[in-house]
Amino acid sequence: MTQENFNHELLRFLHASPTPFHCVQNLVTALEETGFTLLAEEDAWHLERGGRYMVTRGDSTFCAFIVGDDDPDSASLRIVGAHTDSPCLHVKPEPDIDRQSCRQLAVEIYGGALLGPWFDRDLSIAGRVSYRDAHGGVSSVLINFQKPVAVIPSLAIHLDREANARREINAQQHVVPVLSLAAEDEEFSFGDALREQIEEEYGKLDIDLLLDFDLCLYDCQAPAIVGLADEFICSARLDNLLSCYTGLKSLENASPGGATCLLVCHDHEEVGSTSASGAQSPFLADVIARLFPERETRQRAVQRSLMISADNAHAVHPNYADKHDPNHRPVIGGGPVIKFNANQRYATSSETAALFRNLCIETGVPVQAMAMRNDMACGSTIGPISAAETGIAVVDVGIPQWAMHSVRETAGVRDAYYLHRVLQAFFAS
Ligand code: CO
Repeated sequence: MTQENFNHELLRFLHASPTPFHCVQNLVTALEETGFTLLAEEDAWHLERGGRYMVTRGDSTFCAFIVGDDDPDSASLRIVGAHTDSPCLHVKPEPDIDRQSCRQLAVEIYGGALLGPWFDRDLSIAGRVSYRDAHGGVSSVLINFQKPVAVIPSLAIHLDREANARREINAQQHVVPVLSLAAEDEEFSFGDALREQIEEEYGKLDIDLLLDFDLCLYDCQAPAIVGLADEFICSARLDNLLSCYTGLKSLENASPGGATCLLVCHDHEEVGSTSASGAQSPFLADVIARLFPERETRQRAVQRSLMISADNAHAVHPNYADKHDPNHRPVIGGGPVIKFNANQRYATSSETAALFRNLCIETGVPVQAMAMRNDMACGSTIGPISAAETGIAVVDVGIPQWAMHSVRETAGVRDAYYLHRVLQAFFAS
């Protein structure tokens, strides 16, 4: 697969995955086409050597694996980890607001969203809706309005002359999307719009009552290759769907050695990973236990294993270069970044970093290193949590990007493909 094809499909994946639910659905569909069988956690598993399987939890966390050797003297895992969620505006349970002749939607901020860029964008809505059918059963469907259905207008500069110097954004007051103009004689309910959308996507379903939903807003602008020399990828959710997609492509094309190759994509990273399906859940450990049911074999395999936790890194910004430590300024196009933090906000050790550097040498891929300024707080990833939950050695890496957690982020056209080459070599090792 060429870099151009790889990036072209990446853009499609980003566009088709406005929520973690859609991301997982797309991961499942893509791997079904390449011979992976979908398992359910509640069923008995009969895994075969060389078999390709996948499993989901909560519709928004995903794991796929190719079963390797289970000989206690040599069994091991090659794991790639990423996350399916991104900061966004999440619809509140009682969302209807009617004021100043406008119908608006009450939203909650999910994760550490950069709010400024959400203003004046063409916004749509997607997610999961659960309903009660005529027999009293509960079912869920994914919906995606696709077209722009909302906008959060800025306040004009004439009404706030200080806007460029100091405009504060109050998340309760100012980030309230407008859906439509209110007709005086008509009661509006967001639930009616949901029913119409479900009918549009699925035809007449047996819906007695809508029970609940998990919906978020997203920017309709399609991902694009940008720049005079076509060097940038601009899109929403690069953090961290870019890593999910890169992991997918690497596993899909993997020709494993003896190790079990595994991709895990967790939900809820942006809110701390503590949930039934987040990195702090037993999900990954549960899958590993079913791969190696015998306890000592599992413990020995875990000690021979490595996880590459892939989550984008901050590239140095030409307009804000002093936000980076002078010796640690990863650049866009400079290859994957190994993330270091002595206080274990990243799980990288000198040993796991060395293994990653060695893979980069073998694949001819440039590699960069990142450590935060000492006077700034360091972010974290699923790396340290996964290490703590499984006992597996982890290296935290990521491709460099700008504008992390904006509604439109920027990365480079070379870096995801570089990472893909390294991950392929990792799965083959
Ligand atoms: Co991230």
